[in-house]
Amino acid sequence: MSVQSSPTQSESGFPQLLKKPMNALRHSIARRGVIGTVTFLPLAVCRITHRQLRRLSPTRLRSGRADAEFDVQFGVETCREVELRDLHIQSDNLVHGQGFQSTTHPDFRTLMQAIPTDLTNHVFVDLGSGKGRTLMMATEFPFAQIIGVEFARELHDVAERNLSVFSAPWEIRCNDVKSICADATNFEFPASNVVLYMYNPFDRPVMEQVLENIDQSLAQSPRDFLVVYNNPVQGDLFLASSRFDMLESGEDWMIFRSKV
Ligand SMILES: C[S@@+](CC[C@H](N)C(=O)[O-])C[C@H]1O[C@@H](n2cnc3c(N)ncnc32)[C@H](O)[C@@H]1O
Repeated sequence: MSVQSSPTQSESGFPQLLKKPMNALRHSIARRGVIGTVTFLPLAVCRITHRQLRRLSPTRLRSGRADAEFDVQFGVETCREVELRDLHIQSDNLVHGQGFQSTTHPDFRTLMQAIPTDLTNHVFVDLGSGKGRTLMMATEFPFAQIIGVEFARELHDVAERNLSVFSAPWEIRCNDVKSICADATNFEFPASNVVLYMYNPFDRPVMEQVLENIDQSLAQSPRDFLVVYNNPVQGDLFLASSRFDMLESGEDWMIFRSKV
């Protein structure tokens, strides 16, 4: 199954150029109502402009090349970005979800190498794992298990296909890899030590619920719990949490660790 929206068919004679914006408008009215959509419009225009400008930045052009290389090198499909409104997602949290975009391989390596711990007793969890690129990249590190949680069935299906054909040039150090199709707020964290990875997957209300779940899980079984947060838009929630200390941070990432 392809997660790309179909290329260029016209719908009842509607000019193709208008098809995507019309879809977005229909989708927004269904979610926010007419008044909500009109209020949301200026923010939407800012977001689209920002996204288009970012695509032209030298960093994004470089990471675009790294993305394409990853797919060619490993025989998978992880680099095409996907808007959530083009997918069929049965979750009230759809409105709070960020679109799909993969972490680049160089960024992932930098983040994993910044974790100052032996990983053999830690389970790697990616909340919002998309097409599963992080799950493949994580096999380079000696995790006890690797779990991806993705609420879009189409992306989860692509992840499963990618995992089945992926052949790594490195020694695979963790063979126990799975993608689960579920909403992040319903995921029950394993009782083992955890490295939780997130690449800005969702907005505040969902992150608050996830943090609440982590809090309860840690209250039940205190353990080492690392949070590797890439593009940490809701990072202040972890900074304010009495459960976590910030270990390290970079230009666009933060790593937190549960207090002992
Ligand atoms: C920016 S992408 C990151 C993909 C992947 N983690 C990576 O780094 O390559 C964010 C992903 O989070 C997923 N997502 C958003 N809200 C979610 C939720 N409530 N539960 C599960 N997945 C969610 C989106 O479908 C999307 O695939």
